[in-house]
Amino acid sequence: MITIAIFVSGSGSNMVEIINATKHGILKNLARVTLVISNNQSARAIAKAQAYNIKTICIKRSEFNNENDFNKKILKLLVKEQIDIICLAGYLKMLGINIINTYKNKILNIHPSLLPKFGGKGMYGIHVHRAVYESKESFSGATVHFVDENYDTGQIILQKSVSINRNELPKDIEKKVLIVEHTIYPQAIKHVITNYLKISGGV
Ligand code: GRF
Repeated sequence: MITIAIFVSGSGSNMVEIINATKHGILKNLARVTLVISNNQSARAIAKAQAYNIKTICIKRSEFNNENDFNKKILKLLVKEQIDIICLAGYLKMLGINIINTYKNKILNIHPSLLPKFGGKGMYGIHVHRAVYESKESFSGATVHFVDENYDTGQIILQKSVSINRNELPKDIEKKVLIVEHTIYPQAIKHVITNYLKISGGV
């Protein structure tokens, strides 16, 4: 069984979809979510994870003297909890290079656009959908990708598009894209786990 840690900063709807997929969906008997980490004590995702009896921890950058100590603390925790795969689900902080190197090709992120379009620093949440709207795109969508040391540039695992009607505003696009995110995130995790199991010869 693969152990997943989910990193969150906000509402946690993708987190809930992943947890549900491990309980009664496509990740059943393959993976379980054993840890939820947030940098934001008031993230709604924390209470949601606790309702599933999942261990939650809030680690704030402001409690450390520097970035290095902050990232060391997170990595130590991941190792102690024997985490195999990390899923970023609306986590608004960049992971430290120590974590990225230790978990190479085992950290996934979901982004609410068809990367490489509308990615990069500052492109998160409604900012993405506003940019899509202003560019008068006929399509948007969601992308699950591996995390590397830059924003939204890691290898793409899965993408799904949605069409945009002329009258749809950024909020409407956001809603439409979120529905797609909920479907593709568990699928992408399954894909990664299946390959991971193949490489490691089973867990
Ligand atoms: C999603 O749109 C995701 O793509 C982005 O942040 C949002 C998180 O939503 N990275 P939720 O917290 O999963 O509801």
